[in-house]
Amino acid sequence: MSDDNIFEMAPCLKDGPLSAKGLPFVKQALELPKSVSSDIIKTWATYYIFIAKESAFRKEVDPTNEILEALENQRNFLAAFNNLNLEHFATSEAMEKSRASMEEVERETGNHYGNLFKKFDAEKYFQETHDLLKTRLEVNNILPENLSEMTVLDAGCGGGRYSAAWKKLGAKEVTGVDFSEIGISSAKDRIKEANIDVNYQLEDVVNLSFQNDTFDIVFSNGVLHHTRDLDKGIHELVRVMKKDGFGWLYLIENPGGYFWDIIEILRVIMADVDNGVARNALRILGVPANRIFYILDHIMVPINLRLTGDEIIEILEKHGAKDVKRLERGYGFDRIEKIYQKEPFAEMKYGVGEHRYVFTK
Ligand SMILES: C[S@@+](CC[C@H](N)C(=O)[O-])C[C@H]1O[C@@H](n2cnc3c(N)ncnc32)[C@H](O)[C@@H]1O
Repeated sequence: MSDDNIFEMAPCLKDGPLSAKGLPFVKQALELPKSVSSDIIKTWATYYIFIAKESAFRKEVDPTNEILEALENQRNFLAAFNNLNLEHFATSEAMEKSRASMEEVERETGNHYGNLFKKFDAEKYFQETHDLLKTRLEVNNILPENLSEMTVLDAGCGGGRYSAAWKKLGAKEVTGVDFSEIGISSAKDRIKEANIDVNYQLEDVVNLSFQNDTFDIVFSNGVLHHTRDLDKGIHELVRVMKKDGFGWLYLIENPGGYFWDIIEILRVIMADVDNGVARNALRILGVPANRIFYILDHIMVPINLRLTGDEIIEILEKHGAKDVKRLERGYGFDRIEKIYQKEPFAEMKYGVGEHRYVFTK
């Protein structure tokens, strides 16, 4: 990968405070030959940098040095691996054993996820999300009045947690859409278990099948930054919302502080790593499944656009949104709330915080 490609994926490596140790780390990772072992080693380096960032953020001091140290240590770790001649270790018996154990891990991982989803307590899953949504609406004074008369579209609902939360909050009718069959089918299973009435259906959010002016509330939480056409996705949200309706759009932020810089850096080294190998590599380390999802989420997705507030407002207004307003408060663990509460070094850590916008038309 050329320097220009690296800088395009991770502008923070060009001249940001993390570039001095971040760029050698990335270059060392890119030197590794393409192999399953390299994929595993890069995933482990990703894991250790991710937890070093979290450890640095927990302290009330400037996190820069701790992050730089982690980048340097992991560069050294990758260099040591690159210089290791595995031929010396790999007798054919050992190779057979390691192949068998990878298969076992794969089977175990499959069972683990299956069981995890089945065991997931639907009531708790929906209750927690309901509390998050309620707090975010109340703390910003934007809880819609007459919710019991309103229809809601949850565009890109995933496992359906926010659609159910709107219904629990009192909305008249809720439709959750996603193009993931796994997402929609697990959402359907869960609402049955929790006895909540939501209509879930398969849809592409950048090309919705609904008529203009269909819903009182359109809600899209963490979806359009992963789509191939964010502009069209925003157009669709505004199009299907009724005049004077209530729109909610959450997109990831730029600037995003070290929080997103680290993710950008790790996206460069993980770009060619196999998803299944990465998950297994973290399982072997004993990382719990929910942490694996959280860590790999933005790092392994192919599209992860980050926009400035002005860019989001411009696109929303271009498509007919009015009274666009950024939410300044959030739930306790939201980055925007930590900025609002003036946590030390919050802007360095989190940039401007989550971009949650509400609007009408
Ligand atoms: C990070 S998840 C967010 C899920 C949900 N909104 C939540 O907050 O729990 C992103 C979701 O967007 C969905 N998605 C991405 N592109 C989509 C598209 N073009 N049409 C429909 N869904 C899409 C994915 O399938 C995934 O479920």
